[in-house]
Amino acid sequence: MIPSRYYRYACLVTAAANGGGNLFLLVFYRPLFELLGISQPVDLHYFVWMAGLSFTNGVLALLVFMDPEGSRSLLKVGIVGKGIFGLTTIHFYVAGDIHWFFLLFGIWDAIFAVIFWLYLMQLQAPDLSEILSGSIRGGDGSRGKAAILYFSLTGTGRGGVDSVRDGLESKGYTVDTIQIKPVETGLFRFPFGSALDFVRIGARAVLRVRAKIEPPDLPAAHDYDLIVVGSQTWFVGMSAPIEEVFMDPANHPFFRGRDAAVFVVCRGLWRRSQAMLIRHLEGAGASLVGARAYTHTGREPSRLFSLVAYLAYGETGRPAFLKWFLQPRYGLSEADLDELRRFGAALAER
Ligand SMILES: Cc1cc2nc3c(=O)[nH]c(=O)nc-3n(C[C@H](O)[C@H](O)[C@H](O)COP(=O)(O)O)c2cc1C
Repeated sequence: MIPSRYYRYACLVTAAANGGGNLFLLVFYRPLFELLGISQPVDLHYFVWMAGLSFTNGVLALLVFMDPEGSRSLLKVGIVGKGIFGLTTIHFYVAGDIHWFFLLFGIWDAIFAVIFWLYLMQLQAPDLSEILSGSIRGGDGSRGKAAILYFSLTGTGRGGVDSVRDGLESKGYTVDTIQIKPVETGLFRFPFGSALDFVRIGARAVLRVRAKIEPPDLPAAHDYDLIVVGSQTWFVGMSAPIEEVFMDPANHPFFRGRDAAVFVVCRGLWRRSQAMLIRHLEGAGASLVGARAYTHTGREPSRLFSLVAYLAYGETGRPAFLKWFLQPRYGLSEADLDELRRFGAALAER
């Protein structure tokens, strides 16, 4: 968890870069372009506009630095502005239309679109900072029986469930696991029936189409003092089958007034799906005591290619000609599974 002040100072850095950099460019573009071998602007009008717009983005960043809490909407504008600037610049560089000097601006803006986005998420959920830093909140005092709700398409979350359960049981808990079962068994199965199934799940995830699930056995009256929910990330959101549990208000009494914890598994993007899951739990009346997220083993870009290859082939090490580049293991590392065991134990001792 990156402390909020770092994001704030990053805003100051880009304010100085956008503001000062564009003023410098407007005054010295002739000698600078000559020095770098860049052809002089064909349309001076457009050039000044572009520099003015980029300068304005610097003013925006300065306003965010001065009043982060009151500038959340500005951050949204900044994400769009820097995102468009970054992506189009990279596109035109790849197309061979612009000098590498401008690519630096594009990369800078693309990076800051992400930084703004992360900062916005943090500002929108200040209450989560402490729990995302790894702490476990004190519970309601009762101890002994936990339910773990989960849905796992490719088995990563299933492994996580086993680890959390081991941790809870090591501290004397009795644990029931409740698997969420989608009704469309032909679609939500792995290995996929066809590549189209992945596309369909993906498109539905982007459009946030609901997934019908078999009615889970979640009575209002039960003796679980802790409910753990495991989800995965699907296209930067939580998975449809787990979200469906919360879409039905009839399930909310199961969570109301109970201690709850979450863990999310994904390739790398967990913040939004975890925040969605936490908000759903809180909306159902649960009291959040712990939250964790775990990403697949390896570094990018190997991690991303390994995921795509695993989803396509249903096993690691394929295609064979890319074996040297792919991760030998899909999903979480042993260290992460151990960490999930410790998470379970810490929840039991909350
Ligand atoms: C349709 C689909 C979309 C995904 N989208 C993302 C994503 O946006 N970000 C990410 O980090 N991982 C993404 N993943 C990777 C999963 O979160 C990851 O494979 C996870 O381990 C799956 O957990 P499970 O096996 O318990 O279902 C996606 C996987 C699938 C199948």
